[in-house]
Amino acid sequence: MLVKHAVLAIDELPCGEMRTVMSGNVSIVLARTADGAVHALRNRCSHMGARLEFGRLERLVVGGEVGRYELAEEFVLRCPWHGYEFSLLTGRCVADPGGLGVRRYEASVEDGMIVIDR
Ligand code: FES
Repeated sequence: MLVKHAVLAIDELPCGEMRTVMSGNVSIVLARTADGAVHALRNRCSHMGARLEFGRLERLVVGGEVGRYELAEEFVLRCPWHGYEFSLLTGRCVADPGGLGVRRYEASVEDGMIVIDR
């Protein structure tokens, strides 16, 4: 059963930034994208365990052919150690969608607080 946990005031997470919070004994990275949406991923890379809080929040780069790339609407959290990118929408590694993934939590804003379901 999922329980809602208020973890941070929304005012403390500007668009384009990330914050790390503890929910019980679980470290969670909160990321707020340019559109104001809040996302929550577990703060541990599933590749070799890096703390994702030291990674970067970026738009996903996509390209269908060599030398031609564009920015997608989707945002990813890029791991600081080896650069694997995890979708904020699914937690899946974009280069390995059937394999590596990071636990993702539903996040919402209620009464000025970011609330995650865990
Ligand atoms: S530890 Fe994250 S990509 Fe290797």
